[in-house]
Amino acid sequence: MKPVLEAIEKRRSLRSYTGEPLEKWQIDNIIKAFMYAPSAMNYRPCHLIVVQDKEMLKKLSQVTPYAKMIEKAGAAFVICCDLEKSRWWVEDCSAATENILIEVADMDLGACWVQVRSIAEEMEPERTVKELLGIPKNFRVLNIIAVGVPKKYKDKHSEKETDEERLHWERF
Ligand SMILES: Cc1cc2nc3c(=O)[nH]c(=O)nc-3n(C[C@H](O)[C@H](O)[C@H](O)COP(=O)(O)O)c2cc1C
Repeated sequence: MKPVLEAIEKRRSLRSYTGEPLEKWQIDNIIKAFMYAPSAMNYRPCHLIVVQDKEMLKKLSQVTPYAKMIEKAGAAFVICCDLEKSRWWVEDCSAATENILIEVADMDLGACWVQVRSIAEEMEPERTVKELLGIPKNFRVLNIIAVGVPKKYKDKHSEKETDEERLHWERF
């Protein structure tokens, strides 16, 4: 088994894909990464919507100005949460997201987090995603993870990025 840190180093936001579909085993691994994520009180309130339909990918690519890469993704994974099941929906969905991003990097695929969760008055993207995918009223949507076969890779993360000013030992 490869060390997890290798996948964490390789994980970059990749936004340009060949348009090829994902293979079944790759989707299965992403589903496992989602299902095995931690959640507060182990309530498991998050749901995953796997979107492979090209027409729907195109529609999702238009929900925010920062979602264009979804059009050429092999699949998009929409992370949403049942608010009746947990008060910690942002944390729970974020934990599931990071599990997926690391698994995707480990499979040498590319992924990008596309923010959907609406803040303040900017509710439009989230409303649109809910309408397009038939997500129930009591759910919130954190993000869409675009996943595809990358056209090219980026440099992996390295120790150059270790900001000493953000690191504290024992006390701030
Ligand atoms: C909360 C959050 C929201 C993000 N939203 C978007 C987005 O809507 N579109 C996008 O292209 N990238 C988005 N990103 C990706 C960031 O731009 C990216 O993680 C950052 O530039 C660092 O690059 P890296 O992921 O390659 O390390 C988001 C990342 C996070 C954590």
